[in-house]
Amino acid sequence: MNSSIQANDLTEVIESDRAHLWHHLMQHKPLETNDPRIIVEGKGMRVWDATGKEHLDAVSGAVWTVNVGYGRESIANAVRDQLIKMNYFAQSAGSIPGSNFAKRLTSKMPGLSRVYYANSGSEANEKVFKMVRQIGHRHHGGKKTKILYRERDYHGTTITCLSAGGQPERNALYGPFTPGFIEVPHCLEYRKQWDVEDYGRRAADAIEEVILREGPDEIGLLCLEPVTAGGGVITPPEGYWDRVQEICRKYDILLHIDEVVCGVGRTGTWFGYQNYGVQPDFVTMAKGVASGYAAISCMVTTEAVFEQFKDAPDDKLSYFRDISTFGGCASGPAAALENMRIIEDEDLLNNTLRMGERMMKNLHGLMDKHRVVGDVRGKGLFCGAELVADRTTKEPAEEKKVQAVVADCMAQGVIIGMTNRSLPGLNNTLCFSPALIATPDDIDQITDAVDKALTRVFS
Ligand SMILES: Cc1ncc(COP(=O)(O)O)c(C=O)c1O
Repeated sequence: MNSSIQANDLTEVIESDRAHLWHHLMQHKPLETNDPRIIVEGKGMRVWDATGKEHLDAVSGAVWTVNVGYGRESIANAVRDQLIKMNYFAQSAGSIPGSNFAKRLTSKMPGLSRVYYANSGSEANEKVFKMVRQIGHRHHGGKKTKILYRERDYHGTTITCLSAGGQPERNALYGPFTPGFIEVPHCLEYRKQWDVEDYGRRAADAIEEVILREGPDEIGLLCLEPVTAGGGVITPPEGYWDRVQEICRKYDILLHIDEVVCGVGRTGTWFGYQNYGVQPDFVTMAKGVASGYAAISCMVTTEAVFEQFKDAPDDKLSYFRDISTFGGCASGPAAALENMRIIEDEDLLNNTLRMGERMMKNLHGLMDKHRVVGDVRGKGLFCGAELVADRTTKEPAEEKKVQAVVADCMAQGVIIGMTNRSLPGLNNTLCFSPALIATPDDIDQITDAVDKALTRVFS
């Protein structure tokens, strides 16, 4: 146990949690008889719960957020100093950290130059959707307002983000949805939809088919995750992104890449899209921007998009009439600046590449040993292992058994994740996204735990 932590008596905390808290993503009935899990402290890659138990966190705060690890005093100090000097002013005015971070961030994103601050990934995505609608109404005579999204991708929790969501289990019972969102097929070759050699090109061609069906004049935006995260850790097949870019240019469709998960280092490059040589018109990011030390999200776009909102200064409907109250919290960019400094000074992009390779090698080792591992996929430190009941038919492993693997790892003191509440019958991929500071020993400890869990659950 971390020396500063004793097994605290948190009886009162647990009782008030049970009496008053509504946890995210959770059925609460079991909490009537079991204690909720309370995480008390974190340092580096590890967290300690209310019983004093130590866990190695292989999912960076459960949802791939704490990229630089727990207990970073320098970020806390940067936030503290900023809060004392100037905590908040609406973003109709600027702030020193807001301006400085926008410059630093766009220096990593050639071709993009304008940053809009908000406070969640969903909200940043909504900004793009609103901008595209406004561009359509003002510059395309009310056309080009429809938005394409991809099966298995996720873009957030609001009704409109769910309207752009390709995960039916997340959407069920929350309709009716916002009109004008249209699905294109996923690109996961392991679950192929076309029997062709050049799968990446074929999967992208499927986007063109939807565009032609709907009418290119109607479509303003294509919104994609660079690597589909919660929908099954889907790394795009060779050739996919080149063709996607070609299609967007051919039909004058803006390309929005949702980097809420992959942004700021997760895949070993600053942004996931930079692995694929693609040039987006919009990039959104949230989780790793400040590693959860402050709430911040960013919508970043081009000068060409920006210009379309200042071309008619006398028209009071022409500019982007949007605000995010907490987009004006100066703690966000203050934390993000220090977060970025840490990634650079500690060479964490390179570490991510090296540790990602080790994680993939270990996962391939598990695939050799356990027939239940049907496929392993990953980019940098965002990796997954898809579990199947039968390798030949690829019948997915039962969700309850996948949950049992996660629970077994938890009992061993290693927190891993799995796709859940995403696609009926396909919640069968284990997820690994340790902090970018992971060491070889951490990676081995994670995959050793999975090895033992697979043996226990599937033999
Ligand atoms: C790819 C992607 N986009 C958007 C979001 C939504 O972000 P937030 O929960 O901050 O609204 C998420 C959340 O997991 C995500 O994975």
